[in-house]
Amino acid sequence: MLSEGKKKIYITRRVPQPGIDLLSDYDVKIWESDEAIPREELIKNIAGVDALFCMLTDIIDKDVLDAAGPGLSVVATMSVGFEHIDVNECKQRKIRVCNTPNVSTDSVAELTISLLLLTTRRLLEGVAAVKNGEWGKWKPMWLCGIELSEKTVGILGLGRIGYGVARRLKPFGVKNILYHDVSRVGYADDVGAKFVDFENLITESDIICICCNLTPQTKHRFNTLTFQKMKKSAVLINSGRGGVINHDDLYDALTSGEIFAAGLDVTEPEPLPADHKLVTVSNCIILPHMGSNTWESRNCMSETVAQNIIAVFNGESAVGDVYQL
Ligand code: DGY
Repeated sequence: MLSEGKKKIYITRRVPQPGIDLLSDYDVKIWESDEAIPREELIKNIAGVDALFCMLTDIIDKDVLDAAGPGLSVVATMSVGFEHIDVNECKQRKIRVCNTPNVSTDSVAELTISLLLLTTRRLLEGVAAVKNGEWGKWKPMWLCGIELSEKTVGILGLGRIGYGVARRLKPFGVKNILYHDVSRVGYADDVGAKFVDFENLITESDIICICCNLTPQTKHRFNTLTFQKMKKSAVLINSGRGGVINHDDLYDALTSGEIFAAGLDVTEPEPLPADHKLVTVSNCIILPHMGSNTWESRNCMSETVAQNIIAVFNGESAVGDVYQL
């Protein structure tokens, strides 16, 4: 039960302490678990809250908003992505929606580069070979990958993370950085990234990094048709959202040699079941959505959510405002 008086905040998971510390003036209740709150518990526990401090695993739809009641003034998610929130419904109800931009840019960009190198250089196959006793005498053509030097890298989504990836790629000596997005961005010039249409991005790139959000426009943008147009030597990296790739089509493309390899930090669905057919494919590296898994990012994400909530309570604009009411 939430007490009367102070503004009430419900946090849907155990989160790093810095964010909780900032909320000491409020009546805070936490779902005391590292696992996602079951939906029925969420609905049961949020009656009368003023703010919802949620995660990307919580579906915030009409039913949840109804359960919170008319006092709810802000849905603040501890993520950059907000596709789990019914933004239109919130807007209609004049509920502010906030995310955590900026604070995980470096961690996700670093992870994207790590995954890219893991994938292009077949490093996990190498590690497995050592463990399995498959490491024989040096062979000229064993576990050969591709190098970044003189390659064309395409980035789908040149937002903060896409830009962070481009910036980190420069010292590797890539030849071209191409990008596609809903529109051109001025800062692309700082990293010498050239705007191209989607068709050019997929046909010209040796390596493609997906760094965009999931929207109706990006949903399954990578499918059989796309893979057929990509180079057979192409490597696809996804640290955006799993739904941008049709995973059945990706499986076919990887196993038929339509593309060389893929590295995924995000999948559809999440978690990807351990017996999913993509898990068995040696030229596909799958990570469990760990782009922002650094203490630096997670502490800042928690703090940013708290700051967003406080800003809304004070009638101020928030760093993570997803729209202006
Ligand atoms: C985000 O912030 O949206 C990430 O995907 C989770 O770290």
